[in-house]
Amino acid sequence: MKPDLVLIAQYPPQIMAVLEENFTCHKMYEADDKKGFLASVADKARGLASTGVHGAPRDLILSLPKLEIISGFGVGYDAVDLPTVKEKNIVLTNTPNVLTDCVADLGMTLMLDAARRVPQAERFLRDGQWLKGNYPAGVKVTGKRAGICGLGRIGTALAKRLSGFDMEIMYYDIEPKTNLPYRLMPSLVDLARNSDFFFVACYGGPSTRKLINEEVLRAIGTKGILVNIARGSIVDEEALVRVLEDKALGAAGLDVFQDEPNVPEKLLTFDNVVLTPHIASNTHETRAAMGKLMCDNLIAYFSGKPVLTRVEA
Ligand code: 8YV
Repeated sequence: MKPDLVLIAQYPPQIMAVLEENFTCHKMYEADDKKGFLASVADKARGLASTGVHGAPRDLILSLPKLEIISGFGVGYDAVDLPTVKEKNIVLTNTPNVLTDCVADLGMTLMLDAARRVPQAERFLRDGQWLKGNYPAGVKVTGKRAGICGLGRIGTALAKRLSGFDMEIMYYDIEPKTNLPYRLMPSLVDLARNSDFFFVACYGGPSTRKLINEEVLRAIGTKGILVNIARGSIVDEEALVRVLEDKALGAAGLDVFQDEPNVPEKLLTFDNVVLTPHIASNTHETRAAMGKLMCDNLIAYFSGKPVLTRVEA
């Protein structure tokens, strides 16, 4: 008998095929009445396939009393209620490493887009405005100073890429990375003050909520550029709107938002903000690797083997 698995979201076709082959899949994303759906699988669902964005809130976990494993499709688990996972003795897994390169690549893309105003330039060309005059100058990228908030796997991959642009690289992290050749700054405000490009690359969750507050945003300054490829919750979005309204921040490149997929109307009105719909890990190759790891964790667990990438709740 195949174990019963709840799918919170739809995955790429080849991943869906692996899930269907190994599990009896219950597709929560197809149900209009989520409560009714959960009640209908409560006596059998032993696994939950989730994502970084959906996570697993307490009420969802509690509505599946037979749940043994939550396998996330994403590195972030800030949307998972960890105390409940611990209380219920549930195994939690995520997909680290396989997405690091693509997330760092998108960080670079957003930096370049925001500095060189590439999306705006494209709109300018498409609108026929080139026929009327030349496009205004952007900001030089090579040789500038980069600040990274959170020098973990993704922060380090960003630093490696930024080194290729001959940048001076500084960072802020609660754990100093003395093995890496980058300068640790004493505070986020110091980091922001000294950065031309400021990257948010730390983990989400209660400990980093609104870490990038108005003071930090203002310290990035009128010439500075903010790039967020981590979590929307880390940046105080209301403060960001205020700072942009005051023209106190040079530009921003944002892939993540506080209440996805809702993006504050106001943010859409600024010409110096480049926005993408949480696509950092979204390449065919990386999504396939994330899906494989998510499935491998589930298959290992239900075959009585150790899971590959467990998160300690
Ligand atoms: C995914 C993510 O976009 O890894 C994460 O934590 O947020 C992303 O890779 C997400 O898991 C898909 O919803």
